[in-house]
Amino acid sequence: MSIEEKIKELQERRSNYQKGGGEQRIAAQHEKGKLTARERLDKLLDPSTFQEIGLFRAHRARDFGMDGKEVPADGVVTGYGTIDGRLVYVYAQDFTVMGGSLGEVHADKIARLLDLAGKMGAPIIGLNDSGGARIQEGVDSLKGYGDIFFRNTLYSGVVPQITAILGPCAGGAVYSPSIGDFIFMVKELSYMFITGPEVVKEVLSEDVTFEELGGAVVHGKKSGMAHFVCEDEDECLAMIRDLLSFLPSNNLEEAPIVDSGDDPSRTDPELNEIIPINPQKPYDIKKVIESVADNGEFFEVHESYAMNIVVGFARMNGRSVGIIANQAKVLAGCLDIDSSDKAAGFIRFCDAFNIPLVSFVDVPGYLPGTSQEHGGIIRHGAKLLYAYSEATVPKITIFVRKAYGGAYIGMCSKHLGADIAYALPTTEIAVMGPEGAANIIHRRELMEGGVEYLSQEYLNRRKVKGEEYKEKFATPYIAAMRGYVDDVIAASDLRPKIIAALESLVSKREARPSKKHGNMPV
Ligand code: HXC
Repeated sequence: MSIEEKIKELQERRSNYQKGGGEQRIAAQHEKGKLTARERLDKLLDPSTFQEIGLFRAHRARDFGMDGKEVPADGVVTGYGTIDGRLVYVYAQDFTVMGGSLGEVHADKIARLLDLAGKMGAPIIGLNDSGGARIQEGVDSLKGYGDIFFRNTLYSGVVPQITAILGPCAGGAVYSPSIGDFIFMVKELSYMFITGPEVVKEVLSEDVTFEELGGAVVHGKKSGMAHFVCEDEDECLAMIRDLLSFLPSNNLEEAPIVDSGDDPSRTDPELNEIIPINPQKPYDIKKVIESVADNGEFFEVHESYAMNIVVGFARMNGRSVGIIANQAKVLAGCLDIDSSDKAAGFIRFCDAFNIPLVSFVDVPGYLPGTSQEHGGIIRHGAKLLYAYSEATVPKITIFVRKAYGGAYIGMCSKHLGADIAYALPTTEIAVMGPEGAANIIHRRELMEGGVEYLSQEYLNRRKVKGEEYKEKFATPYIAAMRGYVDDVIAASDLRPKIIAALESLVSKREARPSKKHGNMPV
């Protein structure tokens, strides 16, 4: 064979394999409204940067018709490329090839890619679309999943691990994305569950659709498994690119600095009006976040899950920050099981990847009730305390309006290591709200003369006593006298004050006792 013939043979082999499961199955994929693995990678990466690894790898299975069966790329396209010029490792499961099912070689390709991402310090992005363990390969498929889970854990906190679910993701397959950092799902296209609707029907006699059991909306709102819910694949792939712009490539780097052109000393007098003085009055904390962030840009994570707390990324004078904020307009901003989990996970991600934390506190306490207590609010709430205390990145806390009791401590008070804490003049920091305090310390006076607990007369008296308490204790100035807040500032000045604080903390280094790892409540 001449060299020309050899090159021709190579090109033919390559183009055959690149067709995956062939034209019919590609057409079927398109009919379902789905892109193919290669189309997805083209849209995700900077143009013409994808370099494939392992196109020619082949399985060695023999049973159930596998002997001699060609499985192009073994059902997963793997390689590297760039996003905004930065190196990323990517894999895309090819549903047109045996339903993207995961056999020994398919898994090994992903595992090796994780090793490369870890060694090179570059993010790994998985585009999942798979029928799960390749049934014909039996225990070798299970071994493959195990190898991936092990590496997901090994490189957790070393490189960002992002997964988009763009089709089925069932059984044990769900655990690789969930050990990772961020999951994207697309409405009416992706679903994730441990056992599908058929098993649910058989075991529990429950009728449930794929979408109801594990669709994007369910995981975005109820379980919190999906950090981002997208309308379609294009939006999903674009959002992954956006997310990466806020993140460093690994735990030893800082996030890129992006010149936003927004004036760091910009003040906003409207902020003084947005936050109501009346502590009972709801407002949207996102307006405060957008006012202080560069160009009003806030990349929210978990937008429709545990909406009583808001978390996400923004830039301040070009630097990435992680924002955590109580949302007064949902459950009055109370902390509960889901919001504690949501915030704790986000804080730990930011801490692992050197992203400073800015917390906006307006919290009346923990949500009361049997469902919270029996669901383990104690353990879940503890995660938030643990995550804030454990974090050594710069921590800036703004007490916006009220901060009562354990929730005051838990929302990154100075006692959990905030480096700089500011309060607005409207802030009330106290052991509990004024009415609750009056109930306890003035109970005898309030019920004097046979007045019934919580009767109108009781409530009138309590109001007076509550005001007294509020006057004396529910202000930011006692905390400021003690040094628990560093300054009391006007809301209008939040942006320049936060930016100045962040810049002063850029060189922060904080050593902690050496240990194997802590034992976070889970
Ligand atoms: C081998 C598979 C496969 C699998 C799909 N295919 N899943 N081959 N192993 N797990 C093949 C089909 O045989 C078919 O091949 C092609 O992929 C497309 O599948 P369809 O069924 O035609 O597609 P669709 O109708 O869209 O249905 C998709 C599906 C369904 C819902 C995912 O294929 C399905 O239920 N698959 C099995 C899911 C499953 O039970 N997986 C094991 C989970 S247990 P042809 O040649 O006909 O095109 C698990 C344990 C892991 O994963 C534990 C790890 C710890």
